[in-house]
Order: sequence, then structure tokens, then C-alpha cells
Amino acid sequence: MLQILIILLFQTVFVFGCGTPAVKPDTNRIVNGVDARPHSWPWQISLQVKHGSRYHHTCGGTLIGPRWVLTAGHCIWPGDVYRVLIGEHDMSVGEGTEQIHEILRIVVHPDWDIDHVAKGNDLTLLKLDKSPIMNDSVGVACLPQAGEILAHGTPCYITGWGNLYTHGPMPDKLQQALLPVVEYSECSRSDWWGNVVKTTMVCAGGDIVSGCNGDSGGPLNCLGQDGRWYIQGVTSFVSSSICNEVKKPTVFTRTSAFTEWISEVMLHY
Ligand SMILES: *[C@@H]1O[C@H](CO)[C@@H](O)[C@H](O)[C@H]1NC(C)=O
Repeated sequence: MLQILIILLFQTVFVFGCGTPAVKPDTNRIVNGVDARPHSWPWQISLQVKHGSRYHHTCGGTLIGPRWVLTAGHCIWPGDVYRVLIGEHDMSVGEGTEQIHEILRIVVHPDWDIDHVAKGNDLTLLKLDKSPIMNDSVGVACLPQAGEILAHGTPCYITGWGNLYTHGPMPDKLQQALLPVVEYSECSRSDWWGNVVKTTMVCAGGDIVSGCNGDSGGPLNCLGQDGRWYIQGVTSFVSSSICNEVKKPTVFTRTSAFTEWISEVMLHY
């Protein structure tokens, strides 16, 4: 009886525990964007928009609850039809791990304004039709504590199917790149992003050691001291001239500034 209980408990923790991928991400290589180890970021989703009768990848996103995906505000255009692809690694082949979900509700942050990107609030929550099956290729990321600020230089990873280099092609396989956090006081210097960057954002990367990977709406993944992966940012914008420009780090919506809004939406929608 006790054994069964312990097994049940273990399974519950395994299934609902956040930020603990069955396949560990490769965090050894400190090079520009590389193919991720398949399914080592099991919370990474592909947001796909319908064009005609087909769906196309348009943004990244993160599974943060059994039925909830966090992505960017600017990823959603009113009137467009979307779906969510989970458990994906290589877009060019059917690997048998993919799960496709319809979206029941789209909740764009009420203060997001496409005409004023620098105001921030670039967030959207998507409620899925039903909970995906959580297994070795699908799991949830952890949300940080409200107000948590990462130290300058914290090594985080951006993931996504975004361009490999400026105006380059979209890769088939999920990419990852190391992006160290740039603290607000540095990122907001006049020769960096200046007042475009707000305290509700987090900057990471911004020099040649970091890649040009990931894409809008996707996660900034940072390992917590408890050994779990936290989604500390949602990719919001990069320099329009070239990706990975010096002093122009990638700018993310800082998840820890929106934990209250996120939990309220997840509770009430
Ligand atoms: C996870 O679940 C999906 C959906 O049932 C399935 O296709 C896949 O094979 C399962 N296992 C892994 C390791 O992805």
C-alpha cells in the first residue's frame, strides 16, 4: 500500500512537475545556435497560423500549464486562425511525438499595443482545447517567482525555429543558443536600448558569442538553483537591422513581472 502510494506520488510529481525534462538539454557547448537535443525543451511549442488550407509556423511559445501556452502579444492577429503543435523537434519529418491542439481561448494582455511595442506587455495566453499528453516529449516549464530579477550574466537559453542568421532560412530542427542576461542598468544605457527597454523586460545576449536563434513568443529558459528550468522571458523584439547586434540584446517580456496576470487568467478563463 505504501509502495503504491509512493509510486503514485512519484508519478504525480513526474507528470505535473515543471521544468524537469526527461531528456536533459545540452548545456556544454558555448557556441552559436545549435540544433537542440531532440525533446530536451519539451515545453517549446510552435504556434501555427492557417493560410488557405495549410498551417505555417509563425511564433514560438511555452507550455506553462496542462492547458496553457504563453506566447507574445504580437504573435496574434485578430481574425487569424491558429493551432498549437507540441512535442515537435524536426519540422520536416513526422516523428510520432507531435501533438496538435486547437485553441479554445486567446487572451492577449489588455495593455499590449502593437503601435507602442516599447510600452511592453507583449504577452498572450492561449488555452488549449484539452490537456496534451505529458510524456518524455511534452512537459511544462516552471514560472518564476513574482518579481524575480536575474543577475547580470546569468546563462539562459533561447530556443525556437527562428532564423539561423539575419534573413537566413528557417531551420527544420529546434535551435538553441546561449544568451547571458544583460542587467537593466546596462541594457537601458543610451548606447544600448536606451528608454526603449523597460523594467518589465529582460535583455539577454547582444554580442557575437550568442546566436541569432529562437523566435518571437518563444522562451528564455534559465536553470534555477533547484535544478528546474524556468521561463524567465518571452521573446519580444530584436534589433531590426541585424540579429545579434553588439549592444542590442534580444529583449524579452519579463515573465516575473506578470505572474499575477498569468495566474489570474489561468484561474478565471
Ligand atoms: C507521447 O504522447 C504522444 C501522444 O499520445 C505519442 O505520440 C508519443 O509517442 C508519446 N511518447 C513520446 C516519447 O513522445
